[in-house]
Amino acid sequence: MKTVFINCSPKKKFCASAYFLALQRLFIGGKKVNEKLRTPADHARILDQIKDAQTVVFGVPLYVDGVPSHVLRFMEEMEAFCRENDLHLSIYCVANNGFIEGKQNEPLMQIFEHFCSHAGLTWGGGVGIGGGVMLNVTRILFVVDIALLLLNTVLSVINSGNFFPKGAWISFGENAALLLYFNLGVLFFLARMGSHIRKGTFSGKKYTRILIPSFIFILFADIFFVIISLFEGGLFRGWLAKKEVEA
Ligand SMILES: Cc1cc2nc3c(=O)[nH]c(=O)nc-3n(C[C@H](O)[C@H](O)[C@H](O)COP(=O)(O)O)c2cc1C
Repeated sequence: MKTVFINCSPKKKFCASAYFLALQRLFIGGKKVNEKLRTPADHARILDQIKDAQTVVFGVPLYVDGVPSHVLRFMEEMEAFCRENDLHLSIYCVANNGFIEGKQNEPLMQIFEHFCSHAGLTWGGGVGIGGGVMLNVTRILFVVDIALLLLNTVLSVINSGNFFPKGAWISFGENAALLLYFNLGVLFFLARMGSHIRKGTFSGKKYTRILIPSFIFILFADIFFVIISLFEGGLFRGWLAKKEVEA
């Protein structure tokens, strides 16, 4: 069985869609191909890959409660391509959004559902994930935790010859468990959908989110966006900056 994973984020690197597709891959066997859809220049290459595939898994960011426009263009071309080549692929979707409720991906899922019925493809279902940006940050935090553990181990060896600094390992274990907990809903539903993808059966639409209370999410999201705004054009992305008046 060949499965093509299409990362539909327009970001060049560090996108949440890549993270969730990487997790989804863990639960699927057979031949797996990763594709990246950013511009029309990617269309021909991806269509060539799906020609002999049985399953396509889209990894899509939610844009304005829908599918990003560059993905819609591809879906139009894919529909025509599948008709021409008499393809009857199974389609699954891993969608993610910035706000906390995964349920906000429902309109996006409906677009994929209608696309499948219109193009003669089999809609297999999807997982909609809320708090995608924050979940994506958990993978960086995990790498930082590993780096801190290594640093502590090196310092401990230098200072006392001890290769197993117990305190550092306990702190690493606690942090890793916390990050795993945040991702538990995602892992559960992706594992569940993975089992359906392997069997080629209908998985349904499931919604999950980062497992933290909403009021904590809002607090951290506000801090995060103020910091990002400062780095990318001033406070509130330049809304308060002096504007050039066009003649
Ligand atoms: C143009 C644009 C529109 C967006 N619209 C929504 C939205 O309607 N609802 C939402 O929860 N998040 C929205 N987001 C946030 C993205 O869904 C979120 O950042 C997602 O994690 C991006 O995934 P990616 O890193 O794979 O590109 C929007 C982001 C952009 C850039």
